[in-house]
Parts: sequence; structure tokens; C-alpha cells
Amino acid sequence: MNALYSLVFVFILVLIPLFAVGAGHMEFGFGVCIPYTAFALFLIGFVWKIIGWAKSPVPFRIPTTGGQQLSYDPELFKQNKLDNPSNGFQTVVRMILEIFAFRSLFRNTSASLHETKGGPVVAYASAKWLWLFAILFHYSFFIIALRHLRLFLEPIPFFVKGLDFMDGILQIGAPVMYQSDVLIVAGLLFLLLRRLVDAKIRYISLVTDYFPLFLILGVALSGIWMRYYAKVDVVAIKELTMGLVTFNPHVPAGIDVSFFVHVFLVSTLMVYFPLSKLMHMPGVFLSPTRNMPNDNRFHHHVNPWNPDIKPLSYEAYEKDFGPAMAEAGLPLDNPENAKAPEEA
Ligand code: HEM
Repeated sequence: MNALYSLVFVFILVLIPLFAVGAGHMEFGFGVCIPYTAFALFLIGFVWKIIGWAKSPVPFRIPTTGGQQLSYDPELFKQNKLDNPSNGFQTVVRMILEIFAFRSLFRNTSASLHETKGGPVVAYASAKWLWLFAILFHYSFFIIALRHLRLFLEPIPFFVKGLDFMDGILQIGAPVMYQSDVLIVAGLLFLLLRRLVDAKIRYISLVTDYFPLFLILGVALSGIWMRYYAKVDVVAIKELTMGLVTFNPHVPAGIDVSFFVHVFLVSTLMVYFPLSKLMHMPGVFLSPTRNMPNDNRFHHHVNPWNPDIKPLSYEAYEKDFGPAMAEAGLPLDNPENAKAPEEA
């Protein structure tokens, strides 16, 4: 049901610009006003969330560890520097591997039940598929986003041209097929099917899990439609996009309605992004379980807002409460303390 709601919602999002621009000729609204508003909301929401997280107190070291900690005898117990970093450098290396290679996802396991003579047994096995398709999806998205810079920059930077060339190097079809287009769709379909096919994951999947997948699939498919089927007027679109970035917005004639569908879905994604789990993208940098070295054993970390409590020795305590303790029949280390201060 959650998947169906999300799919229907994305269909409605596609219909809105189809009617508004196709029948209502609201090109300026959907080509300029909505993208500007969405981008502004994206920036505000993004910064708002980051500031909120940056201000959250993290009083203690709470890195996730998965290997031998630096010990007092490193010869005997060899430290696992990546899974249990003890200094800033090791933490940065671990972070880079996490961000560029999804290292922790590589360890993903799947649990399954197996019938045996003695009854059902749970078995855990390595499951690399999620890692593989997550990598395919994220890198394809990243490459497509970088390639899109050609619409927003003039002259087009050399690395965007290089990326464009490399991404179409198989030279299949005309216009040439980008490998990233195939891979992003494959990645998204796998991530969707994973939630739909596996009963355990389906059980815990919410609208907020399906909706971004369908929405990004909608963005990718509308882009693919524009490039390979509608064969949109890219020169006119570049005039529009350059107008947007130079704050001189106008909408040239002859832009296919599919472009407005694409941009409306992207605008929805931008508004939704800061409100959603997609914020894991900037969030990983602020994650205290990842960005802190585990140096608890050799640095004493004191919670900075602990109240300033003066230590009270038992001796001093007995001096203060000696008479009351004596009255209650409690034993005293120093019998002198049984006397009230003025008697003493
Ligand atoms: C979340 C961001 C976006 C994603 C994931 C995305 C995805 C795609 C994909 C997969 C394609 C197919 C061809 C290709 O890979 O280049 C495409 C094409 C296209 N996209 Fe996007 N897009 C995004 C944002 C935008 C924005 C903001 C604009 C402009 C305002 C835009 C304009 C276009 C145009 C004009 C094409 C057709 C290019 C051509 O015919 O070569 N896209 N997009």
C-alpha cells in the first residue's frame, strides 16, 4: 500500500505540469517561479537542518567501532586502524572510505530462516547486492548532476565535456546512450524491488522510503524521455537555464512540455530533500559515530556542562553528619565526630 500511495503521488506530480503547461500555458510559472522557489526552500531547509545538527551537543566520544582498539601493547593486540581509529588522520581515512566506497554498507548481511530437523534456524549471510546497487545509483546520480552543469555554465568546463564523452563512450544509438542513464534506472529499480520483494523489508518500508525512490525514478525517466524520445530543443533550454542562473529569467518558445515535467519533479525533490531521509547525504559528515576518533582510553573526556560538584571525602562527611549518625546509632570512624561542633 505504501508503495502504491507513493507511485500514485508521483503520477499526480507528473500530471500537474502536463496540464498546467500543456493546456494552461503556464510556462513561466513552471520554468521560472517554481524552480526559483524550490531552490530557495532547498537552501533554507538544508542550512536550517545543518545548523540544528551542528548545534546539537555531543558531550562524549561515541564512534562506532568494529575492530581492535589501540591497546597499551600494540605488538600483542594489533590495532584495526580503520574500524577503530584512534586519531584524526585515521578517522578522516575511514570517513573518506565511508563516503566514497560505502564501506559500512559493504558489510551488509541478510538474515534468513532455514528449516532443519531440529526446527527453524536463523542464518546470516553476506549480502553485497545492496552495496553494489547503492553504489551504482549514487555514482550515476552524481555523474548526471555533474553533466547537467553544461546547462548552467558557459563556457562549459573541460571536465564536464570529458565526463560527457566518457559517459557515452560505448557510442550506442543516436543521441549516444549515457551509461549513467542505464545504471541509475537499474540501481533505482533494484532498490525498489528489494523493498517490494523481501517480506521483511516490505514490512518496515514506509511511504517515506518509497516516495523518494519513485520521485527520483520519475526525474530520471523524464530526463531520458527528453533526450532519447522527445528530442527536446536543448539550445532553447540552455537559454532558459542560463537566464535562471544570471537572474534574467525568460522562457524561449518551443520547449517541449516534458522539460517542465522534469523540472517540476526536480523542484519537488528540492523542497522534499531537507525534510526527508535524503539528508543522510550531508548528515554523514556530522555523524558523531563516524567523525570521532575512539580515544576514550587515553583522553579523559569530561562532559562540558557537568555541574561543578566539589568532591566530599568521607572524613569531611562524617565531620558534618557525625552527631546525627551517632544519634541514629551508626558507627563512626572517628568517635570525636559524634560531638556537635560547638562541643568539639
Ligand atoms: C535531481 C536532479 C536531476 C536529475 C537526477 C536529472 C536527471 C536527468 C537524466 C537521467 C537525464 C537523461 C539524459 C542525461 O543523463 O543527461 C536528464 C536530461 C535532462 N535534464 Fe535533468 N536531471 C536533474 C535536474 C535537472 C535540472 C535542474 C534541469 C534544468 C533546469 C534539467 C534539465 C535536463 C535537460 C534539458 C535534459 C535533456 C538533455 C539532453 O537532451 O541531452 N535536469 N536529466
